[in-house]
Amino acid sequence: MTDSPDFRRYLVDIDSVSTHQVSTDYLVLGAGIAGLRAAIEAAQNAMVCVVTKGAVEDSNTWNAQGGIASVLDKGDSFESHIADTLRTGCGLCDDKVVDLVVRQGPQLIRQLIDWGCAFDLTDGLIATTLEGGHSHPRIAHAHGDETGKIIAQTLIAKAREQRKVKIIENFFTIDLLTENNKCLGVIGWHREKGLRIIWASNVILATGGAGQLYRETTNPSCATADGLAIAYRAGAVLQDLEFVQFHPTTLYIAGASRALITETLRGEGAVLRDIKGRAFMKDYNPAAELAPRDIVSRAILQQMLKTKSTHVYLDIRHFDKQHFAKRFPVINELCESFDIDVSKDLIPVRPSAHYMVGGVKTDGLAKTGLENLYAAGEVSSTGLHGANRLGSNSLLEGLVFGKIAGHAEVRPKNLARQPVIKYEIPHSHRSPLDISDVRNSLRAVMWRNVGINRKAADLRQAIDQVRFWQRYVMDKQFDNPQGWELQNMLTVCLLIARSALSRKESRGVHFRSDHPDTDDVHFKKHTEIKRED
Ligand code: FUM
Repeated sequence: MTDSPDFRRYLVDIDSVSTHQVSTDYLVLGAGIAGLRAAIEAAQNAMVCVVTKGAVEDSNTWNAQGGIASVLDKGDSFESHIADTLRTGCGLCDDKVVDLVVRQGPQLIRQLIDWGCAFDLTDGLIATTLEGGHSHPRIAHAHGDETGKIIAQTLIAKAREQRKVKIIENFFTIDLLTENNKCLGVIGWHREKGLRIIWASNVILATGGAGQLYRETTNPSCATADGLAIAYRAGAVLQDLEFVQFHPTTLYIAGASRALITETLRGEGAVLRDIKGRAFMKDYNPAAELAPRDIVSRAILQQMLKTKSTHVYLDIRHFDKQHFAKRFPVINELCESFDIDVSKDLIPVRPSAHYMVGGVKTDGLAKTGLENLYAAGEVSSTGLHGANRLGSNSLLEGLVFGKIAGHAEVRPKNLARQPVIKYEIPHSHRSPLDISDVRNSLRAVMWRNVGINRKAADLRQAIDQVRFWQRYVMDKQFDNPQGWELQNMLTVCLLIARSALSRKESRGVHFRSDHPDTDDVHFKKHTEIKRED
């Protein structure tokens, strides 16, 4: 699929913009698990600069609760983890990538432990738990449900120890700079220092996810699909963007921002009940609460419709209260902050956008189609997840492909291509535009029309609406991240809706109520999108 929406090649006028310039061997965009792991690897023989648009703690990795999936238990096997991943991926996984990632898992997790990551233990061994779609308990966790934070802290500390790694926070990457299909670096904006060009021999895209494209999401505010948008503008191939994973259980309290309630709670016995108190999951799937996420999310939605309610409940009243507080400290604190006494009260939940399964297409060496540009983590599409991601496989993928991306060959530095003459970005010609209003309306349209249940008429309506907004947002010259983010969000929303419209079947996380069956004859293949010049 090719595309030619109305956007400019660069979001700032490169020719008239003057900036400070620096150069490095590796430039890593993003400081989640994939970016930090890549930086640590690359620093073994090269200078590395990591840039992140907020603070180093602002990432989906930091917020991950459940854990990281790997074969760590004697009774488990690589074959079983591989089979679970392939089954969940519904025919679109790359077998070789699945094999590679699963087999690398245990050694990379042990390396994390060597670097100081304290996974929870049972009898001196790494404790593991269950999530939907796994046929064996293989989810390792740290400090209960603070797994992502503990892993991120370990990697941040390790990266900071490296003499050759420099971490720059509050740097918004506006665009990749390219020439003849080769990535040369980026232009970006630093909160205090303004516009900057960073030239690099290798650029590693590890910018994370896209949950903020949806009104309901588990993702932090930084997850605005920037990496997908900049890669697309630079001419990289994006793959399978219709596969957006929805997490079944997000805390639903009207007016409060949504928060993830980890699936491992269901792995450890939590029960879903509708507003009448009925446990309904068995009506939808024999695996009940532990069916794959797409099935549970759709079942919840259907039950909400049947009972005319805005949410269902998660019931953990039978849990030991003290054990729960220790095992799930984040959720315990969250519930307490809303006066939910989990020993007496039910927890109101509903599904929300959680993980972008598609992404920038890469090969087994994390290479994108652009020379010198690599991608790892949620922004990439490596072939591990296929049409649906098995819970907790993503932190594992970030570790494995971060390390691989950090191994790229270092060529002579890309140095400044042109003298930069002026020093200021021309002030924006902004017409009165309420950025947050467009952003909120966009997220609402995506939730309503490009959400868990899709159909052609809704998708077409979303495409028309996004195109309408694009007409007066994409031609603006912004000078702040809010504007650039909105432009990125509009670009990626259009691509998701178009990909979803083109896949006239249901597979994995992509459900079309007007095409409810899987159609292997026509659609057992990836959806690719590339910018048309
Ligand atoms: O439910 C969770 O803790 C989420 C895990 C994941 O998305 O991998």
